Formats: sequence, structure tokens, C-alpha cells
Amino acid sequence: MAEVTFNGLTFEPYITREQIAEQIKRVAQEIKNDLRGEEKPIFVGVLTGSFMFASDLYREIDIYDSEIAFIRFKSYEGMQSSGVIKEVMGLDEDIKGRTVIIIEDIVDTGITAARLRARLEALGPKQVKMASLLFKPESLQEGNPPEYVCFSIPSRFILGYGLDLDGVARNLPEIYVLKDK
Ligand code: IMP
Ligand code: MG
Repeated sequence: MAEVTFNGLTFEPYITREQIAEQIKRVAQEIKNDLRGEEKPIFVGVLTGSFMFASDLYREIDIYDSEIAFIRFKSYEGMQSSGVIKEVMGLDEDIKGRTVIIIEDIVDTGITAARLRARLEALGPKQVKMASLLFKPESLQEGNPPEYVCFSIPSRFILGYGLDLDGVARNLPEIYVLKDK
């Protein structure tokens, strides 16, 4: 793994493919243990950032009467706080009475996660839990930490394995961190 540069910013290797795979296996096992006896649990991946993590995580969860769905949300822009969810799009499944596991790429301030949980909780599920690939505990301003976390990291900017810089570099197979100047 070598350094990569985008838009004049240099990123250095941070988490390898092997480390990602290892932590996904661990988290998948935790989730499987907790889902024992649950009827038709549903995983909800948040696009776009979580697509790679969701795919790898869900493959490790051999509970075949579960479902997976993907949602996207729109935030207010301009004058409004960017963390305010305007609309959740794409959830056609009925989650009433079911256990929901949200799959996120990263929880930073926690604002997005908290709003999203509230939106889903309003639809009457049995419970809503969250699995996040990355979590920056020192940045958390709102809501609870995700129930399942692959990596807790310092508050630095991360790229790759689904996470983007202005829309690009999501297909880097490893995780990179913005280099200190
Ligand atoms: P929040 O601050 O927890 O609401 O996170 C909002 C969104 O910011 C996340 O869903 C990511 O899309 C993005 N984000 C936060 N930290 C990073 C990062 O280090 N790299 C790339 N995107 C990030
Ligand atoms: Mg996101």
C-alpha cells in the first residue's frame, strides 16, 4: 500500500484489507449472536458510503430468513444544518415489529445516525441497532455510539472502502487517512 493523492491532498495507508475482513468477521459473529431467535430481521444499508461494508458484512451473516434493503437520504442544504434529514428514500419494506440493523460507513458527529434512527423508530420496529465500519468517539455530539463497530478511530479524515472525497476514491480496497501536514 502506497500513499495516494486526490485534489492535492495526500492520504497514507491506515487499515489493510486483512484487518477489515478480520473485524467484519468479529462484528458479524456479535450480530448473529444477538439476532438469535429474532423473526425476519432486516438490515438497512445507508447509501452510498456503506455499500462495500454492507456487502461484506451481510455475506458473513448466514441468517437466511433476514432481509437487506438500501436507503438514501436527502439532507437540507444551504441555510440548514447538513445533518438534518429531509427525506428517507427507498425503504419499501414494512419494518413494524422487526429488529432493524442499520449499516453505516462512519459515525462522526453522530447527527446523521441519530436522525436516521429516529426516522426508522417512528415506523414501529421492535428495535433499531446500528453497525458502523468506523466510529470517531471524540467527535460524537449527538445520540448513542453504534452498537457494533469494526474500528474506533481518532477524529481524522478517512478515505476508501466506500468512503469518498467529493465523490471519488470509494473503490480503494483499503482504508486511508489524510496525512498530517
Ligand atoms: P455525521 O457527522 O456522523 O453526521 O456524519 C456525516 C457523514 O459525513 C457520514 O455519513 C460520512 O458520509 C461523512 N464523513 C464523516 N467523516 C468522514 C471521513 O472521515 N471520511 C469520509 N466521509 C466522512
Ligand atoms: Mg454516510
